[in-house]
Amino acid sequence: MTTDHFLPNDEMLAGVDAEQLHDLVGLVDYDPTRDVFPVIGWDAIVWAAGNATQSSHFFQSALGMELIAYSGPTTGNPDHHAYVLQSGSVHFVVKGAVSPNSPLADHHRRHGDGVLDIGLEVPDVDRCVAQARRAGARVLAEPHNEADELGVIRSAVIGTYGETTHTLVDRRHYHGLYWPGYVPRTSTYQKRTTAPDRLFEALDHVVGNVELGRMDAWVEFYHRVMGFTNLAEFIGADIATEYSALMSKVVTNGNHWVKFPLNEPAVGKRRSQIDEYLDFYCGPGVQHLALATSDIVRAVDEMTKNGVEFLAIPDAYYRDPVLRERIGKVRVPTGELQKRGILVDRDEHGYLLQIFTKPIGDRPTVFFELIERHGSSGFGKGNFKALFEAIEREQAARGNL
Ligand SMILES: [Fe+2]
Repeated sequence: MTTDHFLPNDEMLAGVDAEQLHDLVGLVDYDPTRDVFPVIGWDAIVWAAGNATQSSHFFQSALGMELIAYSGPTTGNPDHHAYVLQSGSVHFVVKGAVSPNSPLADHHRRHGDGVLDIGLEVPDVDRCVAQARRAGARVLAEPHNEADELGVIRSAVIGTYGETTHTLVDRRHYHGLYWPGYVPRTSTYQKRTTAPDRLFEALDHVVGNVELGRMDAWVEFYHRVMGFTNLAEFIGADIATEYSALMSKVVTNGNHWVKFPLNEPAVGKRRSQIDEYLDFYCGPGVQHLALATSDIVRAVDEMTKNGVEFLAIPDAYYRDPVLRERIGKVRVPTGELQKRGILVDRDEHGYLLQIFTKPIGDRPTVFFELIERHGSSGFGKGNFKALFEAIEREQAARGNL
């Protein structure tokens, strides 16, 4: 069995075919029958928001996503609003407390806007949970069924770093838009007529910031619990800047769709950006989500028109002769990259184009990356120094450096 037979159903992929997905996120063939914890790919990313009603609008108007489903007081859920948004195969569920007694309100008080849960689609929830329990993971919800007239979902929840969780979802016998109990919902919001249908097609990677000295323990967690393996890219002292430093390793599932870079702060002269995150998020959590796009230039232009702010990259980055040599020939002229602050990195397999937004909420925590891969399976290690220097300027402007 290869990845061709091991992808989410058509509803979840939403018009992104296997070949396109292969190129977008760097899929590899693999045999799930030998996997202790087979993972098909991403399920939904669930967010906590201080105002989900307005965040849902941001995801539509700024990121070009579509509202497709909803749960809330009018659908028998008095605790919170939950809006389901989609762009290609990416699904976000944005939740915000209605009841002052909602656990979501407490979570938001501690962490601010951010990622509650990184959903993973699996073919056998019970097998995965049994493996997770054997390997010492926290099982937060046992495997159980939820059903409505559109079918049944079997799921369970395990804990990962901080208060972040993984919901394990078997949705092969469900044909609704997201989850039993959710109702279809669209929005009257209209994109500008020149805007493309979507600005990104797939989730590429989700980065976790973990506590000082704990990166290897969380890498080992994903090895032991989920059978994930390391990808080559490793960030050590070589990317330390004068003011900030971090360590990073990347773990991935069998088909390489689900990729988790894990960062920990490294001791620098000044406070690292990971320390800043840990302070403001009150512990470990999701730092950024990389959205795979087939046209990063168009995505950046549209998002900029929509009011999304990207990190400024120093002009020196594009002038540096060593860097230009390393970048080589890419599909976009350097001047066009420079105009937008798009970064380039290259490895032996090809290159990638990437750009980072500023934090999307009030706290200096979670942000997005846009990534356009052309064969490279990296994460932009060569750009870390340039990126950190740009982030540090923002951090200094906030008075947290
Ligand atoms: Fe990234």
